[in-house]
Amino acid sequence: MDRKQFMSMVGTGIGAIILQQCLSGCKNEKDDPVDPGSGNGGTGGVNLSLDLTNATYSKLAINGGYVYTNGIIVARTNAGTYIAVSQACTHQGVSVEYRTGTNDLYCPAHGSRFSTTGSVVQGPANAALKQYKTELTGTTLRVFE
Ligand code: FES
Repeated sequence: MDRKQFMSMVGTGIGAIILQQCLSGCKNEKDDPVDPGSGNGGTGGVNLSLDLTNATYSKLAINGGYVYTNGIIVARTNAGTYIAVSQACTHQGVSVEYRTGTNDLYCPAHGSRFSTTGSVVQGPANAALKQYKTELTGTTLRVFE
């Protein structure tokens, strides 16, 4: 092995070690979890925990009550189940309201109606509201994707 071959071999080995260190360092930074207490769980999706004993959510203690949080309308239906769909009407973005009489979501701007799962019942809106899952554990209501 001459000097040129030796230097080439050593240089390639050092380069591979440096590259490996850089890639593993970059991977660790990118994969660090986000604080799950922030309300968005670090997955990029919605993951809210609503404390139903908090006055902010007191309307959810009765059937027909609803609140807005993080762009989502959370309602307790006539049957006492919780639903959650996107707050903004898909027509022009006005906040929809839960109606007990018809058990639906209504947009007061131009009269669009949506089912409790967010599908369009009556236009002018022609796209569904995004539906979120709900899960009640004790007095904590989780709203998530
Ligand atoms: S903004 Fe809701 S119907 Fe027009």
